[in-house]
Amino acid sequence: MTSWKDVNAIYQIYPRSFQDSNDDGVGDLNGVVKRLDYLKGKIDSLGIDAIWFSPFFPSPMADFGYDVSNYCDIDPLFGTLDDFKNLVAQAHGRNIKVMIDFVPNHTSNEHPWFVESRSSRESSHREYYVWRDPKPDGSPPNNWLSIFGGSAWEWDETTGQYYLHTFLNEQPDLNWDNPRVRREMQNVLHFWFKLGVDGIRADAVRWISKDQHYRDDPKNLGYIATEGSDEFGSLLHVHSRFGPHLFDYLREMTDVVEKYPDRIMIFEDYPDTIYTTRDQYLGFYSINPRVSMPFNFEGIGLPFDAETYRRFITEFQGFLNQEEHMPVYCFGNHDQWRLVSRVGAEQARVVALMQLCLPGLPVVYYGDELGMANGVIPPDAEQDPLNRIKPGLGQGRDPERTPMQWDGSPQAGFTRVRPWLPIAEHVTTHNVERELTEPDSYLAMYQQLLHLRSLHEVLRKGDYETFGDASPFAFVFSRRLGDEHVFVALNFSAKPQQIALPHAGAVLCSTHPADPPSLGQQGKLKLRPYEGALVACAKHPLHGML
Ligand code: GLC
Repeated sequence: MTSWKDVNAIYQIYPRSFQDSNDDGVGDLNGVVKRLDYLKGKIDSLGIDAIWFSPFFPSPMADFGYDVSNYCDIDPLFGTLDDFKNLVAQAHGRNIKVMIDFVPNHTSNEHPWFVESRSSRESSHREYYVWRDPKPDGSPPNNWLSIFGGSAWEWDETTGQYYLHTFLNEQPDLNWDNPRVRREMQNVLHFWFKLGVDGIRADAVRWISKDQHYRDDPKNLGYIATEGSDEFGSLLHVHSRFGPHLFDYLREMTDVVEKYPDRIMIFEDYPDTIYTTRDQYLGFYSINPRVSMPFNFEGIGLPFDAETYRRFITEFQGFLNQEEHMPVYCFGNHDQWRLVSRVGAEQARVVALMQLCLPGLPVVYYGDELGMANGVIPPDAEQDPLNRIKPGLGQGRDPERTPMQWDGSPQAGFTRVRPWLPIAEHVTTHNVERELTEPDSYLAMYQQLLHLRSLHEVLRKGDYETFGDASPFAFVFSRRLGDEHVFVALNFSAKPQQIALPHAGAVLCSTHPADPPSLGQQGKLKLRPYEGALVACAKHPLHGML
């Protein structure tokens, strides 16, 4: 099995939306098994080395699986534990690693621990969650806000106390200061590792340690309340997250990870205003860089221009220790607008080529390899509670969760019945079946890039260095490992750009694989608008190529 150090990329599957196998309009584990050939194996497969699954655990689905009611089983909607074991065996048989989601900050309010905890103040599980008395006037214990709207405290009539929920009120926060809770969660990790799971994506970890005195969060003086603003931004969340024990608690988790060979844990963590970006990343890397690392989501929020991208990547690479720290670049997921819908169709190809030519473990969100765009969701088809709870803010996440587009039929080959979310409109042009026949499709580009990334260590592990001067139009970098050397040239502008690459050997791959840019005399690379290319160096060719 390929070691994590050599994995070409991780592919994120949102299980509800990948493949339905039992005609209920919702994707499931057996559906994924049916599609493994697409992921790796057949000659025309995507060629991915690892899959990360968003939650498939038993859940009332208030937050579509991020409200877990049993950490050690599979929701019947998705199948059974035996189905999962089969999926792992089939994936491993194809040399694909399996990574699962782990939701440590909160459970579902239907988890037996919470049901027990709320039954009485004397409950054996009372201290599994965060319960506090009201203020003398009956109001919540402090001013903390829920990310999903309103106070982070929910009144419980039966026991006359408030409980804390950073997300929905159906997602009560676990009390990580309680060693019993931490042991329970460690056991969950053991359970899945023993089943052969190779990695863990750890959800919303910044919230597991809170201020020990539960002080009010200070006001954000820069916040202006207007119709379109999110009240959550009115506070600086310095006490409700990044508490003093965060890294200790996470280290206890990575100690478990380290007990098993070649396992990893990737922390979900977005750039915060509390720390400098550098301190925030290095904090997470300090936990245990041998087995754990944070995602890098910075690219998700950045404007699409060459200087901004060059700065963000160069700064990040600059403070990492190349030997120790594994970068995990991610430009889309189930919580964010589709890449194509954020930056544009051609621009998305540039980002993809860049991502798959950067060091570390890139993460590709299912469907991005087809250039899938946000779906249009009519109000009566909405599923995500965010639009309902925070109307008018456009935070609903359904558009980026629409079913995988396998073919151009009305149900996209995803299901035979009405799918749980509508199929996105561009299904006839952006689907696996069609793109496999088009030499210049998104899929063709991803296949080529993933293939090159598997083949050439320089793309996974080579040193990163910017090339040439910063420019508002183009961003060029090089990768070097031993005597192998490649250039990555990216045109971020709507105008053609000419880039001088000394000793350029040949274009190995470009954003238009069927029509690569021309390489003129003395390494002059002519890039068309929003075009990118991976170019080998003639003096230091890649082994086995050219
Ligand atoms: C993470 C998940 C998101 C979920 C939230 C609460 O941010 O990615 O989908 O709603 O945590 O678990």
